[in-house]
Amino acid sequence: MVKFMILKVSKSSVLSGDVYISGSKNAAMPCICAALLTKQKVILKNVPDIMDVNNLLTIIKKQGVRVKKKDDIVIIQAKRLKTRVLSDLVETLRGSYYLMGSILSRKNKLKIKYPGGCNIGSRPIDYHLKAFQELGFNVIEEENKIVIREMTRTSKDITFPKISLGATINVLLLSSTFLKEVKITNPSLEPEVLCLIDMLKKMGVSIDILDKQIIIKGARKLKGITHSIIYDRIEAGSYIYLAGAIQKSKVCIHNAPIEHLQTVIMVARKMGIIVYKKDNILVVEGNKGIKKINLLIGEYPFFPTDLQQIITVVLTKAKSSSTIEDPIFPNRILHLKELKKMNAFIYEQNQVIHIKPCILSPGIIYATDLRCAFALIVAGAITQGTTYIKNIDYLFRGYEEPIKKLRYIGVNVEIL
Ligand code: EPZ
Repeated sequence: MVKFMILKVSKSSVLSGDVYISGSKNAAMPCICAALLTKQKVILKNVPDIMDVNNLLTIIKKQGVRVKKKDDIVIIQAKRLKTRVLSDLVETLRGSYYLMGSILSRKNKLKIKYPGGCNIGSRPIDYHLKAFQELGFNVIEEENKIVIREMTRTSKDITFPKISLGATINVLLLSSTFLKEVKITNPSLEPEVLCLIDMLKKMGVSIDILDKQIIIKGARKLKGITHSIIYDRIEAGSYIYLAGAIQKSKVCIHNAPIEHLQTVIMVARKMGIIVYKKDNILVVEGNKGIKKINLLIGEYPFFPTDLQQIITVVLTKAKSSSTIEDPIFPNRILHLKELKKMNAFIYEQNQVIHIKPCILSPGIIYATDLRCAFALIVAGAITQGTTYIKNIDYLFRGYEEPIKKLRYIGVNVEIL
């Protein structure tokens, strides 16, 4: 019987010191899969040591791929590449869906389980599968797996009804070996997509980014290269709001990808959090009081949905009511139920989260996904007394060494 971990969190009144941001989870996953596009050796640097990455590496090893990992360097060589991806691990993470685009770019058939991922509302992959069909592949959805066969590769203009990070990346991966041009209209241009595009270009793919369109011209054979993963803007944002929520705090955040955090920093300042750059280090100081805001979440460069749960907690400290609207994942609200157990005066109405000023009280709460786990740690750290967070395992899916980093800056946390 899987025993989930419990985290004990006590009020943490003074945060100080240094936190070092790791490589980005959501950039590492597609880049690891892009390494399968060639038989040559690929060296990835700044790869975060997190559960999702390690599970993805385990899956590709099962596909016959050679993988070496030392610290934050991963060496991948996919001389062999099996096309049946039926490990149960596939269903434990979202990023496994990138194996579709990457394996089909080299092979003309694939059997793969459905991806997993955080329970943040419905997460269909219809855009991915429709794009594969438009590019000339036959897609059959079976009970717990998808069977895809190449018919005739067709150069196409793929248009997404809604911006999708995952679907944009899958079409980029698949089209990398298309000799005819493929266009993506209304693509995601998040920093994680641009990190992958940099890698594909180094491997020999020609990619142009126009306004609201990406044009890809692939190559039959792609090169092995060395590529560095960008730093994690969501991890950095998580520590900005944690430090900002605690009045007596002064935390130095190293490796924060400041150029990717403009909106996150702007919103923090609007809430009264002091954020400034010193010698390329981001310094965050808590302030006398958190100010209310009305926030609309959106695709990059708007405020990211992955920080929605964390900022919700911080806004419980505001002097007046705030609202948050998240059209990307409107049902990303499971954390509200847990916060209500801590006496939060919070509710969702017509897909808008309403946060009333309140003083949280300690409780026994459950993490329901990766970002919710971090959000509940913030809740525990700003609350008088001791809070117990169950299912804290989710945290390790996407944060590297979180307990060590949190304790190092003075957050009272302990795994029981
Ligand atoms: C990626 O998820 C990230 N996951 C998410 O981060 C992130 O929240 C999300 O992008 C948005 O930025 C990974 O990179 C592994 P989408 P993804 O396709 O690809 C709809 C985290 O905490 N849609 O951009 O699943 C979808 O329902 C995670 O690190 C379809 O309808 O997101 C959503 O409303 C959580 N059909 C919107 O598009 C599709 O086929 C955006 O989803 C695909 C998407």
